[in-house]
Amino acid sequence: MSDTLSPIDQAKANAARKAVEFVEDGMKVGLGTGSTAAWMVRRLGERVREEGLRIVAVPTSSRTAALAREVGITVITLDEAKWLDLTIDGADEFDAEMNLIKGGGGALLQEKIVATASDQMVVIADSAKEVAHLGAFPLPIEVIPFGAEVTRGLVEELLGAFDVMGRRTTVRMSGAAPFRTDEGNLILDLHLGRIGDPRQLALMLNQVPGVVESGLFVDICDRVVIGHSDGRVEVRDIHDLSVKVMELPVGDTTNIFSNIGD
Ligand code: A5P
Repeated sequence: MSDTLSPIDQAKANAARKAVEFVEDGMKVGLGTGSTAAWMVRRLGERVREEGLRIVAVPTSSRTAALAREVGITVITLDEAKWLDLTIDGADEFDAEMNLIKGGGGALLQEKIVATASDQMVVIADSAKEVAHLGAFPLPIEVIPFGAEVTRGLVEELLGAFDVMGRRTTVRMSGAAPFRTDEGNLILDLHLGRIGDPRQLALMLNQVPGVVESGLFVDICDRVVIGHSDGRVEVRDIHDLSVKVMELPVGDTTNIFSNIGD
């Protein structure tokens, strides 16, 4: 990786830097998955090493678990933690109500379980992730391999009854083979263009027997931290509807985050 971050990486890193300030000594923290979450894990590791911050963390994927251990964060299972104080994760899209599309990295199931088992979920994102309507980003759903084509047919039929622009579905691939999640399941990407009612769609998708979960996160996110490449960070809170914009002190992000692996 070059010493200079691209504007988008700088924005992600700035969101991560801000969000990690919400982590306090003694907390149990959920760690998201994806490139923005990877910045956050590195930054949190730095706080653990340099400030002696005492936390335990529950990662949402095997790759986040590996990164967390690498940077010195103590990793436990969700069953050991039982409940979490805070989860910080990225998103593929978020709207004004803090509904999210997640799962671009294929970790939506663990991400949803972990976020739901947390007092607070904070999403970190660059400003390009904000949308008026969810759906331009293909909606991932995790499906059981058994009868996956039948499940796909049922999902396509279901979509016929919904206010969406497109109804095409694709099986996510990893090279020549279908992509497998950490649970060994498949991901279907739903190319919907625009989702009229995310809440209703999320509920109905979960009624299809072969669908394990969808990447629609409704009423789960509490705060969004939006990073900008110029050092500005905006923090929005869904509960008190506050919006705070601040400048991060000029830091050494480039060094902290060099060789980032996600
Ligand atoms: C992982 O499965 C996803 O939910 C990610 O959180 C989401 O795709 C955002 O990823 P980036 O931070 O890499 O954009």
